[in-house]
Amino acid sequence: MKSRIIGTGSYLPEHIRTNYDLEKMVDTSHDWIVARTGIEERRIAADSQCTSDLATIAAQRALDMAGVAADDIDLIIMGTITGDYPWPATACVVQANLGANKAFAYDVSAACSGFLFALSSANDFLMSGRGKRALVIGAEIFSRAIDWTDRNTCVLFGDGAGAVLLEAQEGDSGVLSCHLHSDGKYLELLYQPGFGSRNPASIEGIEAKLPFLKMQGNEVFKVAVRSLTQVSKEALTANGYTSADVAQFIPHQANLRILEATTKRLGLTKEQSFINVHKYGNTSGATIPIALDEAYHQGLLKEGDLILSAAFGGGFTWASTLIRW
Ligand code: ACO
Repeated sequence: MKSRIIGTGSYLPEHIRTNYDLEKMVDTSHDWIVARTGIEERRIAADSQCTSDLATIAAQRALDMAGVAADDIDLIIMGTITGDYPWPATACVVQANLGANKAFAYDVSAACSGFLFALSSANDFLMSGRGKRALVIGAEIFSRAIDWTDRNTCVLFGDGAGAVLLEAQEGDSGVLSCHLHSDGKYLELLYQPGFGSRNPASIEGIEAKLPFLKMQGNEVFKVAVRSLTQVSKEALTANGYTSADVAQFIPHQANLRILEATTKRLGLTKEQSFINVHKYGNTSGATIPIALDEAYHQGLLKEGDLILSAAFGGGFTWASTLIRW
């Protein structure tokens, strides 16, 4: 038995914020942002939308592609760090929106690696027989967790959602392996200081901008390239493959320079690597399912293809999966 992806879906909010728009908000330039990150524009959710709204549309699209009714889902796991509320889980809101009445639902907090951590958990449930169909979602409204006066961070992120529907099936196609890692030592290189039990909600905390992402970008950059390379090699080695066997590498879309450095170290060609960071920026836990959905609809994922995916994010967390499409 394997967990096979039988549906993909994504949703990007309509409003586009370009680098030229950012030039009017902070001391930056289109050329600087493109040269350092490859990002040209990103999507921003409407004021009326919350993370579950984006996630519900992406999830419904994955169900529609598979022709599966919401009632036939056994579990929903969602990777997000910008959910509707601190609690309960946004996956529960999505469950109610979809009418997935049989499913149990919860969120995974692993920052930009959230989707692959969620996929790994869903795969384990299906492979142990605790369900036949799992909806795995990555969705974020990062625009509400960043300081739009901080040019070091605000140019990097965007909003969006993606989802895949997994079904336990007999055969060779599906998830071949998942590899997960964490190292909490690096927490303060990339985190949101408030508001949790460490820094509870306060007026002073708002004035100190604690509910916004804090990052030491160049330190994150170095560890990200190293970790993405290591965990990608781990996935290939565990299954007896090399980079030459990969049809598509679908990495977390953080920054074009991180992706280029990683693919170079892995010996992957441009044709093997899927990139859409220029259109959406870093949508954190949502980048991989959005990219999977786009790659599928562009005809880049064919039956039998070997798909490698890897992510890195706050925690630090990093992860990979190898999938036989
Ligand atoms: N516009 C213009 N100048 C800027 C901007 C901006 N938006 N942001 C920073 N600068 C300036 C800095 O102030 C600094 O100026 P100084 O030399 O006068 O002090 C200069 O540019 C260089 O700053 P660095 O931080 O050294 O620039 P760097 O080349 O490292 O690029 C960047 C910054 C793009 C953030 C890079 O470090 C990076 O991409 N890091 C990875 C971060 C990341 O992707 N995080 C996402 C979460 S983790 C993940 O998803 C993998």
